[in-house]
Amino acid sequence: MDTHRTATRALATEAVHAGRDDLARQGLHAPPIDLSTTYPSYDSRAEAARIDAFAATGAELEGPPVYARLGNPTVARFETALARLEGTEAAVAFASGMAALSAVLLARASMGLRHVVAVRPLYGCSDHLLTAGVLGSEVTWTDPAGIADALRADTGLVMVESPANPTLAEVDLRAVAHACGSVPLLADNTFATPVLQRPAEQGARLVLHSATKYLGGHGDVMAGVVACDEEFAGRLRQVRFATGGVLHPLAGYLLLRGLSTLPVRVRAASATAAELAGRLAADPRVAGVHYPRIGGAMVAFETHGDPHAVISGVRLITPAVSLGSVDTLIQHPASISHRIVDADDRRGAGVSDRLLRMSVGLEDVEDLWADLDQALAGAQVPAEAASAAR
Ligand SMILES: Cc1ncc(COP(=O)(O)O)c(C=O)c1O
Repeated sequence: MDTHRTATRALATEAVHAGRDDLARQGLHAPPIDLSTTYPSYDSRAEAARIDAFAATGAELEGPPVYARLGNPTVARFETALARLEGTEAAVAFASGMAALSAVLLARASMGLRHVVAVRPLYGCSDHLLTAGVLGSEVTWTDPAGIADALRADTGLVMVESPANPTLAEVDLRAVAHACGSVPLLADNTFATPVLQRPAEQGARLVLHSATKYLGGHGDVMAGVVACDEEFAGRLRQVRFATGGVLHPLAGYLLLRGLSTLPVRVRAASATAAELAGRLAADPRVAGVHYPRIGGAMVAFETHGDPHAVISGVRLITPAVSLGSVDTLIQHPASISHRIVDADDRRGAGVSDRLLRMSVGLEDVEDLWADLDQALAGAQVPAEAASAAR
C-alpha cells in the first residue's frame, strides 16, 4: 500500500522525514513552533523588494516572513511534507478545508473564471458553497460522463470527490482529468489520503484535503490544504494573504506530527473497516453497504430499522460528525453533514434518509462490532426484527 515512491523515498519514509530534513543539522529533533506574528528587519528596501516579488508571483519568501499572513515556517514544514506525500511541487495550507476550497474559487474568479463543473455527491458544505454561489461562482452539476459537454469558456474549475462524502462513490480520476482538457481538475482526496490514492498522478491539478480529518488524525486540529503545482500555489498564497484564512502555527505543528503516523493509521483503520463492511453486508438488519474499491477507513450503510436509533444506541462509537480520528465516529448525513443540501438534490445524489456514515478508528474490531451489533438490535422495528429473524 505504501509502495508509492516519491523521487527517492517511499511514502512511509516521507511521512516521518519530509518537512524535517534540516532538523538534525540544526541539532533539533522535534520541529520548532514559530508563533511570531511579525518579523523584525532593519532593511526596509530589502523588505520592499521581497513584497514586490510576492505580489508578482506568490512565491514563498526567501528568509523569514515579513508578517505571519504572508507565511509561517512551522506551517511551511507541513506544506512541504504534504506536497511530498501527494507528489506535487507545492501545497498551501488554510484555516479549514472550506477556507482552502474558497481560496481556489477566489483564485479562479479573480481571473474571470466563475463557472464550476462539479459531480455530486460532494461534502455538504462544499455543495452548498457552489450551489448558493456564496463567492459569486455558478455551478453546473453533472455526472462524470457529462463533464466535457458542461465545460464553457468561463469554466475555471472541475470538482470531484473520490471516494465521495458520504456515499463513498468513486470516479475514474484519470478519465475525468482527460475530460477536463485544460480546465484544472480539483480532486478532494480527504477520504482516500495519499496513502491510498495520489490524484495528481492521475491528472488532477489540485488536490484538496480537509486536513481536519486523516492528516491531523486525532480530532483536535481544524485545517485545510491544497497540493498543486508551484504556479497555482502562488495564486493561492496571494489569495490567502489578501483574505486572511491562514493556518495557526500550532495547527501546522500538529498536522506535521499527524502526517508521520498517517500511513500506519490509514492502513490499520482500513483493515478494520473492510472487516466491518463485510459483516454489515452479511447482516439481515442492514439494507445496503457502501465500501470503496480502493478501500479506506470509511463505511456507509443503510439500515432496515431507524437510523436515528442506531445513532442514539451506540456506546463505544462516538455519535459525531467529522471523520478521520483515531476513534470511531458515526453520523446520519441527511441530518448533519449533508443537511444543508436541498433534500431532493441530496437524495438524487444517492444520499438516502436511511444512510449512516461511519469513520472507523483504531479500536479492536470485535469491540466495534459488538457495539454496532447492539445498536442495530435496538434500532429494529418489531415487524422488521421478526422478518430478519426468519
Ligand atoms: C470531503 C470533505 N471536504 C471538505 C470538507 C471541509 O473541511 P473543513 O470542515 O475542514 O472545513 C469536509 C468536512 O467534513 C469533507 O468531509
